[in-house]
Amino acid sequence: MKAIVAVDLNWGIGCEGKLLQFIPEDMKFFKEKTIGNVVVMGRETFDSLPGKNPLKERVNIVLTRNESFKDDRLVICHSVEETLKELEKYDNDKIFIIGGETIYKQFLPYCDELYVTKVQNKKKADKFFPNIDIMNEWKQVEESEEKEYNNIKYVFSRYINND
Ligand SMILES: NC(=O)c1ccc[n+]([C@@H]2O[C@H](COP(=O)([O-])OP(=O)(O)OC[C@H]3O[C@@H](n4cnc5c(N)ncnc54)[C@H](OP(=O)(O)O)[C@@H]3O)[C@@H](O)[C@H]2O)c1
Repeated sequence: MKAIVAVDLNWGIGCEGKLLQFIPEDMKFFKEKTIGNVVVMGRETFDSLPGKNPLKERVNIVLTRNESFKDDRLVICHSVEETLKELEKYDNDKIFIIGGETIYKQFLPYCDELYVTKVQNKKKADKFFPNIDIMNEWKQVEESEEKEYNNIKYVFSRYINND
């Protein structure tokens, strides 16, 4: 499985339930990678989606510990183990971990590839992605040229797990 994330220079990913910034090309990249596939997210990230609607044309798996949380449009899982069991139904290449912090942390050990949009600024954040640059198992294998939107500079990078 893969994870896809946008981070700032501090590995910040969110603040007060929202993304740190809006970059149209990053949204487009996220859509292109995940459409037709399976996305796995925490309940907080699901709540942050516009209108609390599932992402279209994707199987939406949402983790919650709340046994009474029901939504027919979602596949709801109550633990990492239950999610991994559910994910056995799908091709590993089609599975994308899409956050937030708690879900990235718990599923990182199961990922073999990461798409990291690196935004070249430092924003106030209360949620973070692990700093994979200090983890031996993760190696950056690709980085795009620098891009810019509204004075925000960013690059698309890809990491693979060597283990
Ligand atoms: N930059 C990016 O690429 C990116 C991507 C996604 C999200 N974000 C940001 O990240 C923030 C949200 O992240 P977050 O860490 O606060 O929340 P989160 O990971 O999206 O969701 C946390 C919730 O997931 C459920 N959960 C977590 N682990 C579980 C487990 N093992 N078993 C069952 N349920 C489990 C719990 O739901 P219950 O409380 O219902 O039990 C928990 O409260 C937002 O600011 C969002 O904008 C950024």
